[in-house]
Amino acid sequence: MNLIDRTIVVTGVSSGIGAETARLLRFHGAHVIGVDRNEPSLTLDGFVQADLSHPESIDAAVQCLPSRIDGLCNVAGVPGTAGVELVACVNYLGLRHLTQALLPRMPAGGSIVNVASVLGAEWPARLEQHKALAATASFAEGEAWLAGHPVDQQTCYQYFKEALIVWTLTQAQPWFLATSVRMNCVAPGPVFTPILGDFVTLVGEQRVAEDSRRMKRPAYADEIAPVIAWLCAEESRWINGVNLPVDGGLASTYL
Ligand SMILES: NC(=O)c1ccc[n+]([C@@H]2O[C@H](COP(=O)([O-])OP(=O)(O)OC[C@H]3O[C@@H](n4cnc5c(N)ncnc54)[C@H](O)[C@@H]3O)[C@@H](O)[C@H]2O)c1
Repeated sequence: MNLIDRTIVVTGVSSGIGAETARLLRFHGAHVIGVDRNEPSLTLDGFVQADLSHPESIDAAVQCLPSRIDGLCNVAGVPGTAGVELVACVNYLGLRHLTQALLPRMPAGGSIVNVASVLGAEWPARLEQHKALAATASFAEGEAWLAGHPVDQQTCYQYFKEALIVWTLTQAQPWFLATSVRMNCVAPGPVFTPILGDFVTLVGEQRVAEDSRRMKRPAYADEIAPVIAWLCAEESRWINGVNLPVDGGLASTYL
């Protein structure tokens, strides 16, 4: 993987998949600037503390980030147990806001990687809704659209991961044609990180039991990070606008 001297921003850098991604990117020679609400416990080339659920906090963070950014890994996320509003703001609206703010700093060859989930796999069932939300231009417009189309607490995590996949798939090619910056999603299945327990609570014992028969085991963060890092690297330069499952085959069993 050629990542030497690429400057890459990683959100959610202080735990789980984000921390492992940052470690691997640095190992391959990238300069990694982390963004998280919590202090990181690993070596980085820079860190900006920010609450990615608020546009004002994101705007303040953007002021502190470098003027040239080659990669953006949007890894930060909260589980459904955090509540509909927070899930909407962190996992979707804030991610979009940060990405839109940083795109002008990304040169040709830049790459954006959004971390979705196997739980977003049912996006085709609600495609028109997700396209309508994707068409909203800003954080505030997205919030207003959601006020008129309320999302259920029980399914909010799935809903906003589906929305993230649809936004990525619909936005990637217009941006690539205009700027030569790529954007893709990675969709992990269950991963051993601090929020795995919340997902078990969210989907319920029955779904967990069903899924555990369909897969060998949950992943480790170091099985997701190489795929995110590779999507930032020159070697993947012709991959754009895809949602790549990294789930040990789990999504393939839903057909
Ligand atoms: N763990 C899994 O089973 C799993 C499966 C599929 C997808 N995912 C997704 O992977 C991503 C990473 O999750 P993880 O498992 O590493 O979880 P994690 O809890 O270990 O890490 C999430 C990170 O995001 C940060 N974060 C959360 N809210 C924030 C906010 N408002 N502002 C700034 N930072 C914030 C946290 O501080 C934390 O460092 C998430 O988007 C999650 O939805 C996880």
